[in-house]
Amino acid sequence: MTRKDFPGDFRWGAATAAYQIEGAWATDGRGPCIWDTFAAIPGHTVRQESGAVACDHYHLWKDDLDLLKDLGIDAYRFSISWSRVFPEGTGASNPVGWAFYDRLIDGLLERGIAPCATLYHWDLPQALQDRGGWGNRDIVGWFEDYAEAMFGAFGDRVKTWYTHNEPWVVAWAGHAIGRHAPGLSDRKLAVQVTHHLLLSHAAAIEAYRNSRQGDGQIGAVLNLYPMVPATSSPQDHAAARLLDGHHNRWWLDPVLKGTYPQDTWDHYASLGIAPRVEPGDLDRLAGAKSDFLGVNYYFRKVVAAGGGDDLLPLTEVKPTGAPYTSMSWEVWPEGLYDLLVRLKADYGDIPLAITENGAAFPDEQLTDGVVDDEDRRSFLEGHFAAALKAVKAGVNLKDYFVWSLLDNYEWAHGYDKRFGLFRVDYETQKRTWKRSSRWYQGFLKGTN
Ligand code: FCB
Repeated sequence: MTRKDFPGDFRWGAATAAYQIEGAWATDGRGPCIWDTFAAIPGHTVRQESGAVACDHYHLWKDDLDLLKDLGIDAYRFSISWSRVFPEGTGASNPVGWAFYDRLIDGLLERGIAPCATLYHWDLPQALQDRGGWGNRDIVGWFEDYAEAMFGAFGDRVKTWYTHNEPWVVAWAGHAIGRHAPGLSDRKLAVQVTHHLLLSHAAAIEAYRNSRQGDGQIGAVLNLYPMVPATSSPQDHAAARLLDGHHNRWWLDPVLKGTYPQDTWDHYASLGIAPRVEPGDLDRLAGAKSDFLGVNYYFRKVVAAGGGDDLLPLTEVKPTGAPYTSMSWEVWPEGLYDLLVRLKADYGDIPLAITENGAAFPDEQLTDGVVDDEDRRSFLEGHFAAALKAVKAGVNLKDYFVWSLLDNYEWAHGYDKRFGLFRVDYETQKRTWKRSSRWYQGFLKGTN
């Protein structure tokens, strides 16, 4: 397999997110975000680690762009820190923060790399959380204003925009499970948040269509999973379908069809947690047409009926046979193929982008000055091959971003989980090539 096997305009990239790499949390006027607050509370993150310093990318951005250039990628997916550009979320802007993204974007373009920006990768300005955050319907307007400002400032150079990254995680991990900021445990609120996230996605698309600089492409990034029944029993099939509704279709249907899936709606309604939807909301969702769908794929879910709770009366089974990553995620490249083919079958020919795929491994061995991560290299090779198989099956796949450029702050896991193509020594901020990045470089140059 070489890159020549993929379509000529296929874009290869790497992805990051602001809170996970930038650091400089209180530098140059950046306002606090909900992860600063959440991580400061004992018990929330491993060793109470936060993104305060992270990879210090805010200062080392130039070196990091040189790594991207050496790697030979076509496109770079990064996120904008809302509280760096608007410290309070709304109102006064922080020009020094805007200048950082200007430098970053210009630096990418100078190196021949397409800048691709995520508007929201989980780091809500704390000032907006204090006003109710994603639970307050007003956030649809706050997000729209922020998005419009970003299109105005950077849309002349950024031609690929992502509204939300993994809104499922924002809603459920943040508001029901309490594992992510803002750390709440209220599932009725979580479902209401799903609706506000979707409305804000639609509002950002509308703003983009109305922007003078809206001549690029915009879409959402969803975390999606192939759902595999543990056995052929009707009960396990029903359980897999239920989890598919909760994780996948609750987002896919509104984004791509402008409706909520009836079965999942009915299930939430039976528990008294269906969202409050106002007249016109569904039309708004239906009217916001995406240019593409961003897919984050990490693993499949194998589902058995029974166990769990009334929301999800099921159990996720851990299959044996395949290796697992440091996140205890099964390495299952076929799942990527299954997912892409399913999306085409159920949602038509909308262009697809793999906006994240990658793996955490311990990365303990150094050979010839390179981190010897054969596990990650073979993970990537396997998943690239699955993507190619999907392309050959007629899937309209356009981009592939590896998660992540650098080892970085893995949310509640702190710095323990290393996902990078480059190792980061957090004491010295030194970046080191890994076998996987050398292999990716060779793949991109056609020299492997
Ligand atoms: C995804 C997130 C990303 C990173 C990877 C490992 O869910 O979008 O920020 O944490 O997982």
